[in-house]
Amino acid sequence: MLSIFVIIWVFLFLSGLVIFIYGFPAMIAVGPIPTSKKGIDKAVALAKIKPDEKFYELGCGEGRVLVQTVEKYDCYGVGYELVYPYYLLAKIRVKLSKKSKKIEVRCKNFFKADLQNADVIFCFLTPKLMQKIAKMLKEMKLKKGVRVVSYAFKINDMEPIEKIKHNKENWNIYLYKF
Ligand SMILES: C[S@@+](CC[C@H](N)C(=O)[O-])C[C@H]1O[C@@H](n2cnc3c(N)ncnc32)[C@H](O)[C@@H]1O
Repeated sequence: MLSIFVIIWVFLFLSGLVIFIYGFPAMIAVGPIPTSKKGIDKAVALAKIKPDEKFYELGCGEGRVLVQTVEKYDCYGVGYELVYPYYLLAKIRVKLSKKSKKIEVRCKNFFKADLQNADVIFCFLTPKLMQKIAKMLKEMKLKKGVRVVSYAFKINDMEPIEKIKHNKENWNIYLYKF
């Protein structure tokens, strides 16, 4: 009997440790700050998503933007999230969505993401990560004219094709074309 408890305890401890080590760098780098519903609406509207286009979110947190966007625009959604607890919350949110068949969440570093099919890429990260992502996108094989929406942080060496102010949080939202 005692050994079962020891095994369960060791299992829970080790899974906690793996979750912590795996997601800690992303948690430190960005944190889970979620976008407001109004902010999401404004940001995603910039990309003028058409039904069945493919919407990718880099760092999808607990999946709010991803699910809200697929439900509103009837597009396909793919979200990348490195922190396991957020990933699990995103999976639950997707399961509860009426559009769950059109949404996929991957627990994976977005720097290893396959973005070849993306029509629209959404990011709400940090200034530093945004520059790294821009570099990655420039070196990657992408569909021509992919729209990239960056919530709050610009890409330093690129002119956005549109820029709007999100007054509530006093942040800009940027739209780029690659
Ligand atoms: C500021 S939050 C934004 C969450 C969500 N996009 C939203 O707008 O509500 C950024 C998210 O990116 C995730 N993240 C940071 N670096 C990552 C990486 N390299 N790969 C995957 N996810 C990452 C963080 O864990 C966090 O959940």
